[in-house]
Amino acid sequence: MKRTEIAEILRQPQVGAEVKVSGWVRSFRSNRFIALYDGSSFNTLQVVVDFEQFEEEFLKKIQFHACISVTGKLVESQGAGQSVELMADHIELLGECVPDDYHLQPKNMTMEYLREKAHFRMRTQTFSAVFRIRHAVAYAVHKYFNDRGYYYMHTPIVTGSDAEGAGEMFRVTTLDFDNPPRTESGEVDFKQDFFGKSTNLTVSGQLQGEIAALALGKIYTFGPTFRAEQSFTTRHLAEFWMIEPEVAFNDIFDNMELAEDFVKFLIRHILDNYPDDLAFLDKRIKDEEKNMKQDDRRPMGLVDMLRFVVDNDFERITYTEAVDILRNSNTYKKGKFKFDVQWGKDLQSEHERYLVEKHFQKPVFVRDYPKAIKAFYMRENDGTEPGKETVAAMDCLFPYIGEVIGGSQREERHGKLLERIHAQGIHEEELWWYLELRKFGGCPHAGFGLGFERMVQFITGMGNIRDVIAFPRAAGQAEF
Ligand code: 4AD
Ligand code: MG
Repeated sequence: MKRTEIAEILRQPQVGAEVKVSGWVRSFRSNRFIALYDGSSFNTLQVVVDFEQFEEEFLKKIQFHACISVTGKLVESQGAGQSVELMADHIELLGECVPDDYHLQPKNMTMEYLREKAHFRMRTQTFSAVFRIRHAVAYAVHKYFNDRGYYYMHTPIVTGSDAEGAGEMFRVTTLDFDNPPRTESGEVDFKQDFFGKSTNLTVSGQLQGEIAALALGKIYTFGPTFRAEQSFTTRHLAEFWMIEPEVAFNDIFDNMELAEDFVKFLIRHILDNYPDDLAFLDKRIKDEEKNMKQDDRRPMGLVDMLRFVVDNDFERITYTEAVDILRNSNTYKKGKFKFDVQWGKDLQSEHERYLVEKHFQKPVFVRDYPKAIKAFYMRENDGTEPGKETVAAMDCLFPYIGEVIGGSQREERHGKLLERIHAQGIHEEELWWYLELRKFGGCPHAGFGLGFERMVQFITGMGNIRDVIAFPRAAGQAEF
């Protein structure tokens, strides 16, 4: 008999039908009711066992997270909460799960503990909900861009350039570690390396994305990126996924409009299609907050917050305005920020969170940052005062998460770009092709990068970014 997925059974319950289901046991109550899940849905199917029909020894093996196959007849459910249940005629034990040796228990386990058991954590309700939603956000990314005529570009994972100029790269090499070839002056000779030059894992697909945008008009990338940042925060990974749209002829304002429309679409897609998973995650946060002080609790529930973001316009301010707001805040005046706020310094996450959570209470775009603290490729704004030069950069800040998007209008003027490349001490030979893009049929263009995990974190309400990626890679962590 062919197996039917639980989602399908629950979608169109057919009382009287003979079916076969396979899945894992969430619970087995009173030797009679098995809650079975197979991943196809948030919901379980209730399997009813007539214990007199089965050996006692056999039933003892139907334990938490054991894997079974059941055939039987669907009947109208007696209990509340489900429309049908399955009367078991035959049960096959596919994979025993001995509770004494098993890492997971049918009780609340900490996120930290589950992270160490990443090969099993997807079996919990929390993580299965998170990973269903992660999938759905990825799908929505492609749907959004495809339906609007964007082309999906695969940019390289191994590159010879530092797209952010921040020097946070993982080197890729086949040279002998203990005895690398050296040049006459004693430096490692990367000419003899696999690619004939020094290479690294990409930190961003943007620069190659720009090449494509200046030919295909509108493109996006969606791939893994790597950063060797020693950041032990709940928002940083060493390996994370990024979505980077790049659009010819867009300026910074078009860029913000696109970003807002795009993230609202992603959130709406989950609200419309994954209500059960969201309701569970919403309740999970509320339960967790029961023991917290009022001040530490979220001002609204998860689903309400997602609706709020979708239904309201994002705020748009300049960096200079942000600095004014922060310096005029009581928090600043009482000296309660850890880091100082000064024009010319980068905003710290405590400042970003103040703007979003306290001052505006909604997502905020901050644009026009000081030139000196931003990447070389960002377009210098015209008409700024000397010493107060800014670039057309934008960050989109979200409640709880901070920066989810970073982007900019790109410097399309060859001379200006070259100046900035020199000023930041970047070797212009490394970027010859990027510079040529400005010499031959260049045009104004803009784009941004959305941190995929940060978006999934916001939508699922998970507190730590490591809990929205199956196998997190972070400083000191590469298990599994
Ligand atoms: O602001 P970032 O560094 O911008 C870029 O990489 C540009 N090349 C994007 C572009 O204009 N095409 O990174 C973009 C986003 C951030 O806003 C953040 O959401 C996410 O990527 N991000 C990280 N997410 C997880 N872990 C990290 N270590 C991250 N670093 C950045
Ligand atoms: Mg950034």
